Amino acid sequence: MNTVYTDLAARFGTPLYVYDRQALDAAIDNYFNAFSGSRALICYAVKANGNLSILKHFAARGCGFDIVSGGELARVLAAGGDPAKTVFSGVGKSADEIRFALQNKIKCFNVESLPELERINALAAETGCRAPVSLRINPDVDAQTHPYISTGLKDNKFGIAMADAEAAYRRAAELPHVDVLGMDCHIGSQLIDLSPMVEACERLLALLDRLAAQGIVLQHLDLGGGIGIVYDPKQDAEPDIAAYAAAVRRLLDGRGLELILEPGRSLVGNAGVLLTRVEYVKRGENKDFVITDAAMNDLLRPALYDAYHHISNVSAEREAFVADIVGPVCETGDFLAQNRLIGAQAGDLLAVHGAGAYAASMASNYNSRPRAAEVLLCGGEAKLIRRRETLDNILADEKACLSGISACH
Ligand code: LLP
Repeated sequence: MNTVYTDLAARFGTPLYVYDRQALDAAIDNYFNAFSGSRALICYAVKANGNLSILKHFAARGCGFDIVSGGELARVLAAGGDPAKTVFSGVGKSADEIRFALQNKIKCFNVESLPELERINALAAETGCRAPVSLRINPDVDAQTHPYISTGLKDNKFGIAMADAEAAYRRAAELPHVDVLGMDCHIGSQLIDLSPMVEACERLLALLDRLAAQGIVLQHLDLGGGIGIVYDPKQDAEPDIAAYAAAVRRLLDGRGLELILEPGRSLVGNAGVLLTRVEYVKRGENKDFVITDAAMNDLLRPALYDAYHHISNVSAEREAFVADIVGPVCETGDFLAQNRLIGAQAGDLLAVHGAGAYAASMASNYNSRPRAAEVLLCGGEAKLIRRRETLDNILADEKACLSGISACH
């Protein structure tokens, strides 16, 4: 029995996300060690887990941030992160978001298309400044990951095609209100074999050389995020960050380029669990169900990607049976695991592992379920870093509009 988890569940209720600061530090140290002595900036991808206390911790550890919306920039600023170490990715940056980022003097816009480049130039002109830009190049390598999280192939919506890249850089170099600083890519997420990332780096460097020959000299190379984590301790291999770092460092040797990385999942994923209580065990004719108080609104990954999350019983070891572990949401797709061997009975506390990344950040209020609380373990101390949402929180914005409705028939 894990008494820490039992105590936390008793104190804060379930479902509950629990993160471990020591594990966050170990993950960031892993990157720092692999790239020590090189000019590398680790820009944590906020989308993986944007909790302000986690951002504050990464900022204190010297990280920058990778953001994809004005909302994420607001999070970085609220957490005391440095906008000068923040890069802005994403295919659909709105004018307001670009203005907000310009006002806050972010490090770089990772530009995904020519129309976006023109918009940034026009808005920088309006503000009387020059916008720092990098072009996101689609290197057309297969990341060999789930199709929904693969982003570096020709058919993806992301980035500028390699064939159009030189013309795009020439256009960028002509624009009076942008500074063309870098080149970036992000080929996909949850990569276990990192060789596609090394291949992407090689392709980008070849392009960088062709540009230099045309007088367009860049200062940084941003290789995105994407390094995977072990979700299934029985099956998954651990990606070798040190070997990846060594390969990239060899490729960058003597070039004087600043290296930027945008890891998300690999910094937080295995630093978190989702604690959930078993409500019922339902024995069916063909199937058994373990029904928990956490659902797809708390952890969407199994429903959306058929993702595997290891689930353990925190309360007791019991005789195992095969069951679907499901939540209370009214959707057949609402499962945390399917056909899983698990020993559990009503009242048991379960831990869903690998829930530090893309769990709380993808949570919703579907079925009017308040979002769960988040706790950060700091040594022996448990700190609440997000209060459990209340029904009042959920209803407030609609209640505020209710009185206007009485006149409509
Ligand atoms: N940079 C860019 C431009 C990205 O699009 C992403 C993730 C990252 C960095 C961080 O990637 P990471 O190191 O976390 O793999 N919801 C999905 C993952 C979507 C990832 C989207 N982009 C999941 O739960 O698996």
